[in-house]
Amino acid sequence: MNEFMKAMEFRHACKLFDDKKKISKKDIGTILNAGRLSPSSFGLEPWHFLVIENAKVKEALGAACWNQPQVTTCSHFVILLSKKAKFFKKGSEYLDESFDRRAKDEKSLKNIQKAFDNFIKKDLGTDVTNWAKMQVYIAGANMMNAAAFIGIDSCPMEGFNAKALRKAIIKNVPSFDKKNYEIAYTLAFGYRVEKQKEKIRWPLEKIVTFIK
Ligand SMILES: Cc1cc2nc3c(=O)[nH]c(=O)nc-3n(C[C@H](O)[C@H](O)[C@H](O)COP(=O)(O)O)c2cc1C
Repeated sequence: MNEFMKAMEFRHACKLFDDKKKISKKDIGTILNAGRLSPSSFGLEPWHFLVIENAKVKEALGAACWNQPQVTTCSHFVILLSKKAKFFKKGSEYLDESFDRRAKDEKSLKNIQKAFDNFIKKDLGTDVTNWAKMQVYIAGANMMNAAAFIGIDSCPMEGFNAKALRKAIIKNVPSFDKKNYEIAYTLAFGYRVEKQKEKIRWPLEKIVTFIK
């Protein structure tokens, strides 16, 4: 098995972390960079990552996350935020800045602006808030796989009450920019204490259709 597939097998939704073991600065940097390097629709990187290391803050957020022990035992609890829909309105500063850094000249800038505008108005099959969150899930998946590659465990967590978690973040994380961000989902990172269970997955034949 190649190293990447070994990491895919190693990754599992870790339910309990060793609260004595802390991820190094270098390793958490690697994990976050995997998120940063992720693809996003039109390259708009609609994300921000709140990285909670503080035990008291983790404790305060835990209740909103169904008191799941991953939150308080993990080394780093990452809240993946998505940019609000207003960032993607025609003429917004963020949209202009984002396209500007990619366009090689005025004409290509106009083209990408027009293509994005059409995409949002005519083709997008979901609302913009949801579309932004979808990008954030990709970044999170890459973070978990990068973590597994360097022997670090993770748990993706949607098991929270969205309103209660938002309220708890506003109360306990003063730097949270509530005007501009939604919560997409959360990821706990750390080191396992229990053996991983056998993977339960449908066989490829059941989930893949080749059209030849
Ligand atoms: C978006 C998302 C949210 C999840 N939320 C939780 C959660 O709140 N708590 C939990 O223990 N597992 C959570 N899981 C983990 C899944 O239950 C787990 O990935 C699935 O059962 C497959 O198991 P495995 O990841 O160990 O292979 C979540 C997974 C995803 C992708």
